Amino acid sequence: MATERKSIHGQWSSRMMFIMAATGSAVGLGNIWKFPYIAGENGGGTFVLIYLACIALIGVPIMMAEIMLGRRGKQSPINTMKTLAKEEGRNQNWVALGWMGVVAGFLILSYYSVIAGWAMAYVFRTASGVFTGATADGVNSIFSDLVSSPESLLAWHTIFMVMTMVVVSRGVKHGLEQAVRYLMPCLLVLLLLVVAYAMTTGYFMQGVNFLFTPGDITGEGVLIAMGHAFFTLSLGMGAIMVYGSYLPKDTSIAQASVFIALADTAVALLAGLAIFPIVFANGLEPGQGPGLIFKTLPIAFGHMEAGTLVGTAFFVLLVFAAWTSAISLIEPAVAWLVENKGMKRVHASVWIGGATWLMGLGTVFSFNLWADHTWSIPFLFKDYDFFETLDYLTANIMLPLGGLFIAIFAAWLMRESSSRDELATYNIVYKVWRFLVKFVTPVAVIIVFLKAINAI
Ligand code: PHE
Repeated sequence: MATERKSIHGQWSSRMMFIMAATGSAVGLGNIWKFPYIAGENGGGTFVLIYLACIALIGVPIMMAEIMLGRRGKQSPINTMKTLAKEEGRNQNWVALGWMGVVAGFLILSYYSVIAGWAMAYVFRTASGVFTGATADGVNSIFSDLVSSPESLLAWHTIFMVMTMVVVSRGVKHGLEQAVRYLMPCLLVLLLLVVAYAMTTGYFMQGVNFLFTPGDITGEGVLIAMGHAFFTLSLGMGAIMVYGSYLPKDTSIAQASVFIALADTAVALLAGLAIFPIVFANGLEPGQGPGLIFKTLPIAFGHMEAGTLVGTAFFVLLVFAAWTSAISLIEPAVAWLVENKGMKRVHASVWIGGATWLMGLGTVFSFNLWADHTWSIPFLFKDYDFFETLDYLTANIMLPLGGLFIAIFAAWLMRESSSRDELATYNIVYKVWRFLVKFVTPVAVIIVFLKAINAI
């Protein structure tokens, strides 16, 4: 019986611990680094509104479904899908969903770690005081110097991967709770300080308008907005499922999911409100790509009171936010190796971490040695480098596809009594959830996919 199953990896010590860990997974580079630059590239307004709609109508219900499946299966996503498919009398090929998640997590972490490395480098750049009084041009050249050096990027990427392996090998419980409980609120406060600075630039309303006034958007823009809803909430690849598998029975999945989504969205919107006024005040380009926060925030730190301190603290906290997300990206793979190959956690972490590190070299070189190597896939993308290709394949294809299959399994194939038992919520909440997961998610994902390839 599902209710008697126990996770061999242990359980969260409290319900709060799970919420903290899942929030730690959700809030990361996706919110502060990625959201502003993709919003900038896709024209703001409409993009942001679609993203918000996707969070509410697809993100929260899929998060509930993922936690529910994880808690019922109580194993790595691969084995959870195997067990549940059997229990519900479904095809064994559903394990493929777990495998796709493992691959997606591996690919995402390979570039995530390189970007987290940028944030680490910025801790030291900011602390040295180089940004004091800096101009937009000065800040720009500091960024270019960093990314054009494969050696620096490689060094930081290596350090970040080692940090990730250390936490994962100790088990995600230890140390993580403190990091999230104290550091995430601090990050929020510092973000508010930058927003306060942004208000003094005289361009605050321009930033607000850019973020919230509807404008034009392409089919691809819609896909990116939806993909980002999955990415930012850590959905579609088993991270939240594996965290759910360590969850005791008495926690309300619905409440936890709403809390996590609200916290995550608040951080992303604040990051946008901090960054865009600085962009406009300095005549910068909103659509300049992945370097955006590294070329804007230092201007704020260079001009505000105690900016060196605030800026250094900000980048330290950003590294922590990335760290608590990174560990959830390889946890599904590590849990599987422990379950199926009888490996010790340490060994499993080193194997997966090592392979991810190697894959990360592609992203390191994308910004320098291989910058001119781009390719196109008809109907999907044009002139993408290695990093852009990985990002596209994972966030825009693998995660939404994972979400689609999770929705199909949870709402169409699983017995109603099973999901009802696990979600244990008010009838009306259950009904709304089931409707969204059964119809809205699959239809939305399919429409967006078709639209992105201009098929409709
Ligand atoms: N949600 C994380 C972020 O926004 C990234 C992530 C994606 C983590 C998928 C786990 C799984 O930074």
